Amino acid sequence: MSDYDVVVIGGGPGGYIAAIRAAQNGLKVACIEGRGALGGTCTNVGCIPSKALLHASEVFEEAGHSYGKIGVKVGSLELDLPAMMAYKDDTVKGLTRGIEFLFKKNKIDYVKGWGSFKDKNTIEVKGEDGSTSTVTGKSIIIATGSEPASIPGVTIDEKRIVSSTGALALPEVPKHLVVIGGGVIGLELGSVWARLGAKVTVVEFLDRIVPGVDDEVAKEFDKILRKQGFTMKTGTKVTKVESAKAGLKISVEPAKGGDAEVLEADYVLVSVGRKAYTEGLGLDKVGVKATDRGLVVTDDHWRTNVDGIYAIGDVIAGPMLAHKSEEEGAAVADVIAGKVGHVNYDAIPNVIYTSPEVASVGKTEEELKKAGVEYKAGKFPFMANAKAKVGLHTEGFVKILADAKTDRVLGVHIIGADAGNLIAEAVLAMEFDASAEDIAMTCHAHPTLSESMKEAALAVSGRTLNF
Ligand code: FAD
Ligand code: NAI
Repeated sequence: MSDYDVVVIGGGPGGYIAAIRAAQNGLKVACIEGRGALGGTCTNVGCIPSKALLHASEVFEEAGHSYGKIGVKVGSLELDLPAMMAYKDDTVKGLTRGIEFLFKKNKIDYVKGWGSFKDKNTIEVKGEDGSTSTVTGKSIIIATGSEPASIPGVTIDEKRIVSSTGALALPEVPKHLVVIGGGVIGLELGSVWARLGAKVTVVEFLDRIVPGVDDEVAKEFDKILRKQGFTMKTGTKVTKVESAKAGLKISVEPAKGGDAEVLEADYVLVSVGRKAYTEGLGLDKVGVKATDRGLVVTDDHWRTNVDGIYAIGDVIAGPMLAHKSEEEGAAVADVIAGKVGHVNYDAIPNVIYTSPEVASVGKTEEELKKAGVEYKAGKFPFMANAKAKVGLHTEGFVKILADAKTDRVLGVHIIGADAGNLIAEAVLAMEFDASAEDIAMTCHAHPTLSESMKEAALAVSGRTLNF
């Protein structure tokens, strides 16, 4: 006899959604979480605090630089960093408590502590006070997420050399922040501190920022960020970071070889990717297979090689995104309940919450070319959109890629204000196998930024109306 039908290890977006759906399916559920709060990386040290600081810093930046252009005079502008951090912390607290409420509502037992496998149905839980208990389940879902990665020669101390976690709670605005890695975290958190007054230098190993993002979008993004004051050192690698009396010394050299250089900064953000987190979980005790990089191996229904043990979210392959984890959480709970669980990995949106935002779904031009797919591209600049003009958000464009023969939408790439909300229409279109013509024939309210989607769809067949 097991205590529970389902035991979820990890209370992040993957784990807590899996727990809720399993409970909705009539199963008896427990969720084990060690960090002392539900919501995982996303709510505690990821999506939510970063978006709170992005929001606050954007308001600060706009008040200082844009309000005057529309006739709103602001007196002397002053940053109250402790208040900004308190707003961020309150936002996080409210949301983690909200998940606790959802657990109560769905009669899910929240087990506080770190779990590790004793056998395939038994999890030993070490509580904060050092006490241990065991929880048994017919099915176990591993949803233990991920943690920041680093590089040789760089030791994260979360004081001066910080991961995203430290960068979300700096006690002061850096004079010079060196960001290692020009990916999502580096550019989002780099934007926060740049807006608040830091000089920001991004050191990126590859010869471009945001690998994986459509080339044309990435180029435009790079140009805009430089205009905002970012210094970009692409094709450059960091060999070591040393603490000196006056600050940090960062040794860099061209990735392809060449003369080394030393940068000086007061803070370094290490944002070179994240790795699966399975420390202390005891996977070897039950024989659950993981890759060399520590990702738990599953089949396409999130089953590991051990009967009754499943895994979802950042700890398995695929994009490390909260909404991907959530989709998998709901789907695996349906699979366990004997229902159909499905995730469409071809329609998972990606959003970078900088200013402007960058959002995409589906294939990039480079991917389509590589796969030999014939496609047509339709592009529309925000410069020609009335609402963008009104809001002074004229940078960027929408690009729709459609199959040359069938007109089916294969990918949508947006750089511009509110791109993260605009992409939802494209995701829905792709879920319904829509054609560019379908989007072009859909009435969009005027004046809205979303009209740019319609115009880009019209552009696929060379029929834009406003450009
Ligand atoms: P996690 O959220 O990592 O949750 C796993 C949980 O398991 C953790 O709380 C951990 O404490 C717990 N745990 C681990 N091991 C054990 C154990 N043995 N026992 C008990 N508990 C355990 N994604 C987006 O989609 N949008 C964004 O805007 C976004 N912004 C981000 C910003 C930052 C700075 C970072 C770092 C990440 C961001 N992400 C974003 C990524 C997102 O946070 C992750 O993809 C998401 O949290 C993964 O969810 P998960 O449930 O798989 O894992
Ligand atoms: P990332 O994979 O987005 O970017 C890492 C960057 O570091 C890459 O450009 C890579 O080429 C570079 N890099 C790797 N090694 C390097 C080295 N030695 N020197 C210089 N550059 C190096 O990873 P990041 O930014 O750490 O974020 C981790 C994950 O968190 C993301 O992949 C994403 O899944 C998630 N995330 C999502 C967000 C969102 O959806 N808005 C926001 C923040 C994080």
